[in-house]
Amino acid sequence: MTRAAVLSGLGGWLPPRVVTNDDLPAELDTSDHWIRSRTGIARRHFADPGSATSDLAVEAGARALASSGTPHADAVILATTTPDRICPATAPEVATRLGLADAAAFDLNAACTGFMCGLACAAGMIATGVTDRVLVIGAETYSSILDPLDRGTAPIFGDGAGAVVLRAGDPDEPGAIGHIDLGSDGSGAELVGVNGGGSRQRLSDGPEREGERYLTMAGREVFKHAVMRMTASCQTVLERAGRDVDDVDRLVAHQANIRIVHQLADQLRIDRGRVVTNIDRVGNTAAASVPLALLHGVADGAVRPGQQTLLTAFGAGFTWGSTLLTWPELVLRD
Ligand code: ACO
Repeated sequence: MTRAAVLSGLGGWLPPRVVTNDDLPAELDTSDHWIRSRTGIARRHFADPGSATSDLAVEAGARALASSGTPHADAVILATTTPDRICPATAPEVATRLGLADAAAFDLNAACTGFMCGLACAAGMIATGVTDRVLVIGAETYSSILDPLDRGTAPIFGDGAGAVVLRAGDPDEPGAIGHIDLGSDGSGAELVGVNGGGSRQRLSDGPEREGERYLTMAGREVFKHAVMRMTASCQTVLERAGRDVDDVDRLVAHQANIRIVHQLADQLRIDRGRVVTNIDRVGNTAAASVPLALLHGVADGAVRPGQQTLLTAFGAGFTWGSTLLTWPELVLRD
């Protein structure tokens, strides 16, 4: 029988410090009204200095493992754009701290699409018998790369981590990861990213280069690409799965901006009532966005067993990815 990866655990974690729109620095010259009406964001969580992506990932990973009913996994894939260090990868430390001795562990960088790529990677590893149980974590501390005085990014992003466990199972089971669409377009590389600190633009000391370590984003351009790419990717997945938009019970999209999510739903002709969103409380948490939206959707009762659930994400690169699954019965653990 064909092996499939089946979603069997879900967890997440947000650092305790809540930053409301009114808490943002006055120098940003923004307002609660502007941020809410243009993005849907009311607050976000920021990790305190000294708290790293691995700390968030361990908390989320432990909850996903507990939710899956067993503390074991033989691989950890950590999707992140904000690793603890450039080298080594953060995933091995996360695996060790979770007690997953000798587990395969590596980081994956596809920005806000990282979790979708992680799912695809894990599904392939399980289908080919490389592993039996994979912990896929999306974890970010964007507060470490945000320019606190850039109003185009500082109000948008937040920190957090979300995780799932995939186990070997049957393709017809609820929770089985079926068709996946992934794509990229490197011609958009300059429109969102961190320019300094890589091999292309090395960071030199001195205050004049300070800004190079921050994320920059051409918001309006990125917005258009996000809607266009996620729409096409969702349509591709539905076509491959032999499904119609009317079959989709829940749309869980990358929480970049509520206007992006609504435009995506409108383009797909999916009623906005079927959209799952948590952007008001977490902002854009990049690779953690989709699993955190799933977690909050399940906790709120918006995502329920048996529902056809369409997941999609878009991020820097550009990168994008989507999948469709029947939502399984899961037990959440705090
Ligand atoms: N407060 C007040 N005014 C603002 C703010 C702010 N925080 N930000 C921008 N403005 C102003 C601008 O200066 C501009 O003023 P002007 O018309 O006088 O020149 C006006 O608002 C409109 O600016 P836009 O940049 O066009 O604003 P927009 O409505 O596009 O919203 C935003 C900006 C929220 C960043 C939006 O473009 C967005 O969400 N972009 C997509 C983000 C995304 O998809 N990210 C996913 C990938 S990210 C990753 O992978 C790391």
